[in-house]
Amino acid sequence: VADIDPQKVLSRLADAIAAALRPERTEKSLEAVALKSADHAKTLRLSVGDKEGIVKLFSDSLEGRLAFSREHRALAGLQRLDVPKLLLVSERDRAILTRFIPGAPFERDLDVNNLLQRSEFLGQWFGRMAGIAPRKPAKGSWADYLANYETGFDHELLAAQGSLLKSAEPAHMALAHNDNALGNFILGDDKRLYAIDFEQAMMKPEGWDLFTAARAFFQRFPDDLQSISSSLLRGFRLTNANSSLPENFDQIMNVLVLANVVKGA
Ligand SMILES: Nc1ncnc2c1ncn2[C@@H]1O[C@H](COP(=O)(O)OP(=O)(O)O)[C@@H](O)[C@H]1O
Ligand SMILES: [Mg+2]
Repeated sequence: VADIDPQKVLSRLADAIAAALRPERTEKSLEAVALKSADHAKTLRLSVGDKEGIVKLFSDSLEGRLAFSREHRALAGLQRLDVPKLLLVSERDRAILTRFIPGAPFERDLDVNNLLQRSEFLGQWFGRMAGIAPRKPAKGSWADYLANYETGFDHELLAAQGSLLKSAEPAHMALAHNDNALGNFILGDDKRLYAIDFEQAMMKPEGWDLFTAARAFFQRFPDDLQSISSSLLRGFRLTNANSSLPENFDQIMNVLVLANVVKGA
């Protein structure tokens, strides 16, 4: 991301960052370590004394601006969930400062023995998100939605499952995390599961994140799709008792994963 100059932005924001991370302000120096450079953003780990934060800096491109605004709005609206705590936002610099979450990446030690527990745990996170996420009306069936709004699905495979997808109608659209790479979840040292990286957060049919989470697990465990899907769905229902997802939503998840993976392959 050539147009992002962390040195420049951080020196401009240094006082505000230090004050947000460590209000006692006994420390003078702000230290920064680069963690990741992606298409539209750079992520750095910051420390002021013993207080640690994460700053995400977005590029000045259209995509960078959109990603910044999605991440900002989603994080602000979801602070009641286990997500990074927002400390400071600079619209001008397209910078978002959050509290560092001590823990391990969700995929660390993930294996067939804990796969179903982990899937259910992640499903629970999405169930809680669904309880507070903004919604809007949906119309039509899953088949209509995929045909009209989504690319990246194999249409022969969707057609073969036409009756399933035509009979299921999403009850509403809801804000979805929409980037369920396993690296976007942290198992906190406090044993809680945290979701990070909301730059793709968008309105999608109810249950969308369950499908993309199933796809992420499926890529690691291709023999276990059915049990992954049902565990995710079971977790979702545990924390969202009045969800309107149909009884057979795990079947819909399987079809979406396979049609999406076949097309991507
Ligand atoms: N609040 C946080 N606490 C701990 N680690 C974080 C936090 N935010 C980001 N990270 C780390 O930084 C990496 C990149 O952040 P992320 O928001 O996922 O950026 P990208 O959109 O480039 O993937 C994450 O994979 C994670 O390791
Ligand atoms: Mg990420």
